[in-house]
Amino acid sequence: FRFFRWAWRATYLSAIAGLVYTGYGIYEMKNPGDQAEPDPTKKTLVILGSGWGAVSLLKKLDTENYNVIVISPRNYFLFTPLLPSCTTGTIEHRSIMEPVRNFLRHKKAAVKFYEAEATKIDYAKKVVYINDESEVKGATSSTEVPFDMLVVGVGAENATFGIPGVREHSCFLKEVNDAQRIRKRIMDCCETATFKDQSPEERKRLLHMVVVGGGPTGVEFAGELQDFFENDLKTWMPEIADEFKVTLVEALPSVLPMFSKQLIDYTEQTFKEETIEIRTKTMVKNVTKDYIEAEYVGADGKKVMEKIPYGLLVWATGNAVRPVVKDLMSQIPAQADARRGLNVNEYLVVKGTENVWAVGDCAVANYAPTAQVAAQEGAFLARLFNQMAKTEEIEAELKSLSVAQETAPKDARDQIFANIKDLQKRLRRTNSMGPFEYSHQGSLAYIGSEKAVADISWLTGNIATGGTVTYFFWRSAYLSMCFSTRNRVLVLMDWIKAKTFGRDVSRE
Ligand code: FAD
Ligand code: NAI
Repeated sequence: FRFFRWAWRATYLSAIAGLVYTGYGIYEMKNPGDQAEPDPTKKTLVILGSGWGAVSLLKKLDTENYNVIVISPRNYFLFTPLLPSCTTGTIEHRSIMEPVRNFLRHKKAAVKFYEAEATKIDYAKKVVYINDESEVKGATSSTEVPFDMLVVGVGAENATFGIPGVREHSCFLKEVNDAQRIRKRIMDCCETATFKDQSPEERKRLLHMVVVGGGPTGVEFAGELQDFFENDLKTWMPEIADEFKVTLVEALPSVLPMFSKQLIDYTEQTFKEETIEIRTKTMVKNVTKDYIEAEYVGADGKKVMEKIPYGLLVWATGNAVRPVVKDLMSQIPAQADARRGLNVNEYLVVKGTENVWAVGDCAVANYAPTAQVAAQEGAFLARLFNQMAKTEEIEAELKSLSVAQETAPKDARDQIFANIKDLQKRLRRTNSMGPFEYSHQGSLAYIGSEKAVADISWLTGNIATGGTVTYFFWRSAYLSMCFSTRNRVLVLMDWIKAKTFGRDVSRE
């Protein structure tokens, strides 16, 4: 009885603490403090992008030290780990978007934001050329922005490996509009398949959902799609129940190559139970409007080219370098060997430059292109820039004290000398920042039917786990990692809504 009383008290207190925390989050969000105007006499720090790397840098950067300008074609941050859930309406896309203006308004000194795409970086001239890519164009839609310091955090684009037809016929899964397009296409395929007098072959094609790429994006999407079918579509459209099919095509011998063998086997087994077909060792070579052509090695050891008809094709084969980054690489001789992005040193400085840094998917620093890496790199740069500003301040003070010491009367000189010693000590402390070191917290992926897999670094070892408990861990981890209290509340409400009423099957 005593135990229950204590348990009740603990639950009650944690609920109150949760409410207070959420209430404070909302209050803080709605009441930003006064902001100092940007100081044009300070160094101009231009940050390209509003993704994981750039936003993590902005979060921790002391903006009073620089004249900060952010440029991105997207005026929001996107919490990509939950993007696959938006393709089926488990989560509404706005729940995982955080407007850049919201968090910039909370910085100590104001930051300028331009919604635009950087089309070219001229390293020699120290200028970024930008284009307003929005539908509404003013009299000026392209201009240039000079910089003293530049951070490139523009991420990557979708890899197609030059395979014909990919861009024209498939859906990618990187941005909000990709998820919206997929959501619409799923329903379009289902409704068109049930159109009067539709032939059986055409119904089969339309209800075949093909995912190319067995990395985490492809696997998570396939899992979400099968959930949507099992939990909702089957109920609301029983006439498609026997024909709806999800196939995952992967060129390598297994899916999720970055996970341990045990979790790969678990994922493949779970997919089998979920009736998702996995076609490993199958390389897509061509894409047409209605089918893909994929090559695999047949039982006789000969290569076979198979036509696989599809209604929806989602292309998730990883990252490629953006044109603006490729162009910058071509201007810097030290980047001649770079292929996958900007080669950076241990302080994330783009090799061959002095005043350009790169973070996230567009930088090559021997880490996987993940949000975890990008966020840690961004936070590192914020610390580095805050420290650089402090160093410059101390150096300026030292310079003026040295001048003062020469002209000061004899009795004041001792005091100035002591101050100089003190400043030199502070300077040594500030200059002691080590290089960037990535700390891997683990990998998590949702695999459908309320199961997830996790390879987690724990104390001295690794834990590889999969199943329903891991799924709850996956949910709580991602909920806590959401950008703001607003995002957290909205995501939680979406999960409750989808569980209570089912996902929305209306086609927008
Ligand atoms: P991004 O976050 O992609 O941001 C790039 C920014 O640059 C965007 O704001 C973009 O609009 C802007 N930009 C683009 N071009 C220009 C230009 N020319 N000029 C100016 N700005 C430009 N990683 C994990 O660790 N865990 C996960 O669970 C996970 N899930 C994922 C799920 C999906 C569906 C996807 C697609 C990725 C996932 N990732 C995950 C990977 C992760 O999202 C990326 O590694 C991460 O977004 C990289 O951060 P970034 O800042 O380099 O780029
Ligand atoms: P990826 O690069 O991880 O996987 C792409 C897969 O596509 C590869 O396995 C490759 O063999 C396959 N492929 C390439 N061309 C092919 C073809 N023609 N035919 C068939 N298969 C082909 O890409 P993904 O999943 O988009 O992930 C990109 C990055 O984002 C990765 O670093 C990943 O770790 C990260 N990410 C992490 C997530 C998580 O931690 N939960 C979720 C999503 C992405």
